[in-house]
Amino acid sequence: MNLLAGKRILLGVTGGIAAYKSAELIRRLQDQGADVHVAMTNAATEFITPLTLQALSGHPVHLDLLDTETESVMGHIELARWADLILIAPASANFIARLAQGHGDDLLSTICLAAQCQVAVAPAMNQGMWANQATQLNVSALIAQQITIFGPSEGLQACGEVGEGRLLDIAGIVDLTAATFPNERLRGRKVVITAGPTREAIDPVRYISNHSSGKQGYALAEAAIEAGAEVILISGPTSLTPPERARLIPVTSAREMHTAAMQEATDADIFIGVAAVADFRPIEASDQKIKKDNTGERLTLTLEENPDIIAAVAGLNDGPYTVGFAAETSHVIDHARRKLTRKKLNMIIANDVMDQNIGFNSDQNETTIIWGSQEQTLPIASKRTIATKIVGTIADALPEARQ
Ligand code: PMT
Repeated sequence: MNLLAGKRILLGVTGGIAAYKSAELIRRLQDQGADVHVAMTNAATEFITPLTLQALSGHPVHLDLLDTETESVMGHIELARWADLILIAPASANFIARLAQGHGDDLLSTICLAAQCQVAVAPAMNQGMWANQATQLNVSALIAQQITIFGPSEGLQACGEVGEGRLLDIAGIVDLTAATFPNERLRGRKVVITAGPTREAIDPVRYISNHSSGKQGYALAEAAIEAGAEVILISGPTSLTPPERARLIPVTSAREMHTAAMQEATDADIFIGVAAVADFRPIEASDQKIKKDNTGERLTLTLEENPDIIAAVAGLNDGPYTVGFAAETSHVIDHARRKLTRKKLNMIIANDVMDQNIGFNSDQNETTIIWGSQEQTLPIASKRTIATKIVGTIADALPEARQ
């Protein structure tokens, strides 16, 4: 499980002998799925080179508030907006003092001032400096500003003294970093979602499809991202903008969707089939536009069955927790229950697509979630609200099904 999958962490490195440990910290944060950008103070560059941290993070290191080149790529305000967490490790006594006072006289302090996200500080300094009343008052000021403090730990220091002031061990910093995202119930989970319609070609200009807009599937992708999941959105053609943090795999036909789904589902924790997949496709798509000959003759299309994507995913050995949707026009719950059993799903969401106010292409939906012996009806609400509730129910059901 990647504890920081998809998380954006701005690592601030300040001047102190422990700065060399930031190299290892970058790697361990990345191991947990985080994207790490680095900002260094001038003093930090005396202890470890920006080139080292650039090579490890895979991004240019941010050094100077007034550097027009790096500001034009990602300026300090953009960096502050980009980050889900700003982690200052190691944080020197001097930087802690400046942060406590609200200074904005270099890049890192300015980013911290502009930040809307959580800021965490991992102090590292000589034990006397840490114990000093001025430092302790500054740390109290940071806590009062809702800044989180990681450590420090005790032990032998680089200066030869023994005491409190060592940078917390890297594994401890990574664990505490992950713990700053407590409400994310799907943190570390890979969620694959299919959405929208499929199109089955008749000829180069015509196709068989349906009324799915993708709204319910995209809303689920947003809700899963909000819950901390890494989201893969396999989408048929829609006019929607995908959530920024979803990895979009655009597809057109059911067969393309099937291929993408089977590739992504093998290591997924959760698979949610919201797409309205065409059950049938023309046996052969004409490679030229089919002409009408004005004789009034009938045109017969012969169709063959498409693969049942969600049934194939549910049949995988050690596959993901599999959630289907049932688009029904009558006997909604009965038909949905039958699909749940026939396709061997873990959960199904039934919706009545006869009602114009819900289901296809509307902004709202009304659904019944069915799993195990349980059933829960969600009254009419926006597709986003419904999505949040579905994600919550999946998160509740998940531990029993997949540890
Ligand atoms: O996209 P919107 O406009 O927001 O509308 C939302 C929706 C109505 C499309 C959505 O809420 C919904 O009901 N999606 C499922 C549509 C559907 O195809 O239902 P079904 O009952 O035919 O299929 C049952 C399940 O099998 C679904 O999870 C479907 O994705 C899956 N399936 C179906 C056929 C197939 N060949 N492969 C599949 O994986």
